[in-house]
Amino acid sequence: MAQKFSERVAWLRWQINKHNHLYYNLDDPVIADQEYDALLKELQDIETSHPELQTTDSPTQRVGAPSSRLFATVAHPIPMLSLDNAQNKDEFKQFDKRMQEALAVDEVVYSAEPKLDGLAISLIYSNGLLTTAATRGDGYSGEDVTLNVCEIAAIPQSLKIAKPPAVLEVRGEVYMQRDDFEKLNARLQKQSAKIFANPRNAAAGSLRNKDPQVVAARHLSFFCYGIGQSEGFDSLSSHIESLQRIESWGIPICPDVAKLTGLKACVDFYNTIMAQRSQLAYEIDGVVYKLDSIAERDILGMRARAPRWAIAYKFPAQERTTIIEAVEFQVGRTGALTPVARLKPVLVGGVMVSNATLHNIDEVNRKDIRVGDTVFVRRAGDVIPQIVKVVIDKRPKASKAIVLPKQCPVCGGKVITQVEEAVVRCVESLSCPAQRKQQIQHFVSRSAMDIDGLGEKLVDQLVDKGWVENIADLYKLNRDDIASLDKMGELSADNLLTAIKASSKPKLARFIYALGIREVGEVTAQLLADYFGSLEKLMACDESQLCEIEGIGAITAQWIHIFFSDRKNQAVIVALKKAGVVIDERKVAIGSLKLAGEIYVISGTLSKPRDQIKQLLHQHGARVVSSISKDTTALLIGDQPGSKLRKAEALGIDIIDEAQLEHKLQDL
Ligand code: IVH
Repeated sequence: MAQKFSERVAWLRWQINKHNHLYYNLDDPVIADQEYDALLKELQDIETSHPELQTTDSPTQRVGAPSSRLFATVAHPIPMLSLDNAQNKDEFKQFDKRMQEALAVDEVVYSAEPKLDGLAISLIYSNGLLTTAATRGDGYSGEDVTLNVCEIAAIPQSLKIAKPPAVLEVRGEVYMQRDDFEKLNARLQKQSAKIFANPRNAAAGSLRNKDPQVVAARHLSFFCYGIGQSEGFDSLSSHIESLQRIESWGIPICPDVAKLTGLKACVDFYNTIMAQRSQLAYEIDGVVYKLDSIAERDILGMRARAPRWAIAYKFPAQERTTIIEAVEFQVGRTGALTPVARLKPVLVGGVMVSNATLHNIDEVNRKDIRVGDTVFVRRAGDVIPQIVKVVIDKRPKASKAIVLPKQCPVCGGKVITQVEEAVVRCVESLSCPAQRKQQIQHFVSRSAMDIDGLGEKLVDQLVDKGWVENIADLYKLNRDDIASLDKMGELSADNLLTAIKASSKPKLARFIYALGIREVGEVTAQLLADYFGSLEKLMACDESQLCEIEGIGAITAQWIHIFFSDRKNQAVIVALKKAGVVIDERKVAIGSLKLAGEIYVISGTLSKPRDQIKQLLHQHGARVVSSISKDTTALLIGDQPGSKLRKAEALGIDIIDEAQLEHKLQDL
């Protein structure tokens, strides 16, 4: 049995030392804090019940990890210790009981402080000037990061006091505010650099960067939570009062600290801070309770790794590791396919998590996520769980890469990848069930077909009953069916049918807009209607022709073309016509118009909005394109025409102004 324990102890020590190195020196942990705490607790428990297995070099007797060789080493005359943890209320109660008994009081006075999730730092102020800054390291010596700390605006270079103590060691936490963390990661992502998994890693990684200028750009923050060595500093009997005194000297203190008496006040404080957790500017992982009286602390004393007079009462972990069991693609209401990871269920931040969005395939590739991988899942502040990173070491041989589906998983339709958007979309927006409700709501909306009385709830019912599968089905609804729906009666059914009927002769522009083609808003729909005059012509045009139209960019042209060339979309348009929708199109064929076949380019500021002039030209059968070529009929110029004027002159193209255009149109 003892043999078994000694083997386990050896394994635990090896594991903990390895994870200490990954966490403290490489800022790249591969297990979540809670799993680390569990390893440490198991080791502590075995050592307590088998004292013969205790050794002085056990990680239970030390904190952190020995310093890396990146920086010079600084010794800590007073060791920088760690804290014991309470993982639940019972463990916290036991701590409080120990304090009560040791101090022989009914209620203990504590200082309660949010447990900041950053890294510990020691700042030595000699005669009021910051002379040395060091990390905690293994508690006895840390790394000299003075040059880097000088770049942290939140840390004063000197104390604001006329007669400073000869020596004052300020201890506290360097951390990164949530918004600074988001900004940093966004910046790193843009530069295709490795992003940080959480604000703690970002703070630690930044502070231990070799280039102080990088530190300056990273916006680190700092709160003091204690005092180390001092000379010429009148110690106060209360911890909180000491903090307040040095706060008045310019040292930042966490605003959410409190002096509390008794267990109930502590538990209430814990609950209050936990409720505020997601709104705080900084990340915390619990509340630290310390005896407030310095004299009482001396009664309790220290152990090798942590003081007996303090405890970190932890919050539910916001970061855990779990396994990706599968990845499925969900189709959103706009047709976007989003990869969603199905996870082995895990408690994160107190909530059972079994799914996490992977956002898009770029993100999957960037994080190199595969099915079977062990991943860090994080739920911080925001409610949607995120996959932070993969633990590559734990990747099974049989892991499977995630590939984009070739077809829409909902309707089997075509999907396309829009490079600019990093999004894959199902293009069959008129028939795909995932897009159905959104599509219908858009179709009936005021600026589209304007079908009054067809609100969101009614659309939901019509679709859920299976009566409306696509927009054409709206024109086939019958009175009895509508009247039988929730909150409807015969009168409202009649009103709805009248509104549907009234919508059945839409102007072409409205109809185009109502189809809900990506990138085609009201203005573009009008442009297309003016330019083509009929739906048939629009449906028959090719992408290059669309690109020529002034006001239509390449991406919009691509979407229009994809939409109309899709057979299922075409079928719905045919069904609409069959169901009685008659589009109000230009009666005169383009060919018979006076400016038919002419091509205009516009340059400079005109007396009327450009859209109006374009519409005028379109109405007379002309096309308006964006660049001059030998095929251009004329360049229409306003005030301050640009380089197009020179090009037109060079090519010998006619140049006309608005007055000449008006003349031309009157003459026709
Ligand atoms: S006091 C002897 N107070 O937690 C007590 N530590 O797990 C030393 N921490 O190394 C620490 N917020 O980096 C203390 N209000 C707080 C803290 C805090 C965060 C960190 C600190 C420490 C670690 C121990």
